[in-house]
Amino acid sequence: MAGNWKMYKSVGESLALVQALKEALGDVSHRETVVCPPFTALHAVAEALRGSNIEVGAQNLYPAEEGAYTGEVSPKMLLDVGCQYVILGHSERRQYFQESDAFVNEKVKAALDYGLKLILCVGETLEQREQGRQRSVVSAQVGRDLEDVSADAMKRVAIAYEPIWAIGTGRTATPQQANEMHRAIRDVLSGLYGGEVAQGTSILYGGSVKPLNVDDLMAEPDVDGTLVGGASLEAESFIRIVRFQT
Ligand code: 13P
Repeated sequence: MAGNWKMYKSVGESLALVQALKEALGDVSHRETVVCPPFTALHAVAEALRGSNIEVGAQNLYPAEEGAYTGEVSPKMLLDVGCQYVILGHSERRQYFQESDAFVNEKVKAALDYGLKLILCVGETLEQREQGRQRSVVSAQVGRDLEDVSADAMKRVAIAYEPIWAIGTGRTATPQQANEMHRAIRDVLSGLYGGEVAQGTSILYGGSVKPLNVDDLMAEPDVDGTLVGGASLEAESFIRIVRFQT
């Protein structure tokens, strides 16, 4: 269960939130919890969560170790501040920063080369869904974003299906719609890596996940977790989401 804080929260606000999460989720086992604060809060959050059962992820990286790339952050720097995870290919980055599948693929390989775990986001636009193209669009994204990624490296890859029309809109995919797309993604993984890797890969749903809909989403057989935006910014709602009941 992962929280993508996007461009929200000061260092102080981040620390207050993770302190509350740490206290409330200390007894949660067999469930992986990840928070993804903005870059500016990563170090403080990672320090605060050290030794806890909550992991820390970044929301992006640049695929080089270091160099003259003004404004960018490398995978090595993410490890240095205590990150275990990175979110890649989020639709907001594809849309506002023109990230192509080829560039996402470079980032995926860089993250894996440095030993990071990653959450790879894919998803169709409303227009693509209305044209009935959601399966082909998402399958193509998965294939291109994972090019040259080995079966062994897939142990560190989770995929987040985030239909763009459901992000920040309050319009969640129905559990059935989510499950159908997760199954399609698993079929693609099975074709690329075989059934064992496909079954072993966590496929998260993202897009207006809330305390009120998480239980139904998580009850679907192919929904292994959620990537939460807005509802991960408040301790109470994210705690309820991590403590989903099926
Ligand atoms: P919301 O939960 O705010 O719709 O955001 C989803 C998302 O984009 C998570 O990465």
